[in-house]
Amino acid sequence: MSLLIHNLGQIATPVGRGAARGASMRKLTLYGSDAVIVVERGRFLFVGPREEMPREVVVDDDIDARGATAIPGFVDSHTHIAFAGTRESEFNRRLQGETYEEIAASGGGIASTVHATRRASEEELCENVLAHTRLMALHGTTTAEAKSGYGLDKECELKQLRAIRGANERSPARLVPTCLAAHEFPPESRGSDAARAGYLSTIVAEILPAVAEQRLATFCDAFVERDVFSREQGEEVLRAGSELGLIPRLHADELSDTDGAALAVELGAASADHLMYVSERGIEALAKSNTVANLLPATSFFLMSDRYAPARALIDAGAVVSLSTDCNPGSSMTESMPMAIQLATLRMGMTVEESLTAATLNGAYSLRLSSETGSIETGKRADFVLLDAPNYLHLVYHFGVNLVREVFRDGNQVVRDGRLTDGRR
Ligand code: NIG
Ligand code: FE
Repeated sequence: MSLLIHNLGQIATPVGRGAARGASMRKLTLYGSDAVIVVERGRFLFVGPREEMPREVVVDDDIDARGATAIPGFVDSHTHIAFAGTRESEFNRRLQGETYEEIAASGGGIASTVHATRRASEEELCENVLAHTRLMALHGTTTAEAKSGYGLDKECELKQLRAIRGANERSPARLVPTCLAAHEFPPESRGSDAARAGYLSTIVAEILPAVAEQRLATFCDAFVERDVFSREQGEEVLRAGSELGLIPRLHADELSDTDGAALAVELGAASADHLMYVSERGIEALAKSNTVANLLPATSFFLMSDRYAPARALIDAGAVVSLSTDCNPGSSMTESMPMAIQLATLRMGMTVEESLTAATLNGAYSLRLSSETGSIETGKRADFVLLDAPNYLHLVYHFGVNLVREVFRDGNQVVRDGRLTDGRR
């Protein structure tokens, strides 16, 4: 069965099977209204002007795009969606002037989500993950990374990862799991350095081996931050993960400069994430590496900070830059990649072209999926979005509304006319 999408206003996509860096992040391939997309067996069979479509392509079904713009499905490569409970009261405290770190120090923050997540059943967590993926799909995301990190003990970290695996079987967006057991020290181990060291050895000796053995995650991550995991502790966790086949990613330089970016590069990490406080040295290290600088402007926005990651300096130095939501109940309660793109462009000085590349191809690259998704190209998985807009600039120009009308993942329509299809075509 092949499906033809015609009457498009535009197709806008980065191209390539690897990452785009520097000036190449601005190079989109654009097709005009004569172009069509043909999907067969879940992949793009043809993309381009209709008169160039090979004669042997047989069309079984077709969709009139009514002038929509086709872009690749978004790849949200940093999310914390396997949680229970929400933190709107802490949010309200932040609105009265308390900081995120003050709330965390008073027993709130990650710890309050840990309590709720430990109490939740695997089925509840699975339903929660699904609810987030539905909102993601409605906003154009077809692939999302999903981290654990609200269990902070073996049983609950594994429960979160099993919930992600279970959700992935029914989710409209494809999920890629990451073990973030090193998100924080659990409440019961915060008392002393010895107790903290005890949790660190639990991660290394018990949690990561079980995760690797049960194939519950592709990546492992650590939150290197003052008063959380030191650079040395983060390194120990990620090296242990690496030896078990879990590829490192790193929460780096989010609230202060901890030399996290350089550490990520040293470890050959897939990504260094956040980077609001990245140093010159960190920028240089990233620029010379294949470690993706994964920027999460919705976090700065939601924390009401004027401090955004130095996207311009990173791109101009030649780093591979991606964009993600950081979706989590404390510092970024959003599933919307268009929101991340709008903030990247309007607050971090990225061009719309760079933002689109960062939110698709480069995110896929950091998840080791760029040969499969992240662009609209023959042979790749047919993961794409039809925007109710005449061209891709509307993605930022027409901000604060949802322009996503149709979403296809692996060639299956998961959103039709702005509503979830639940897999029905
Ligand atoms: O990416 N950096 C730590 N983790 C999250 C916040 C998690 C939370 O507040 O629940 C982040 O910002
Ligand atoms: Fe995060």
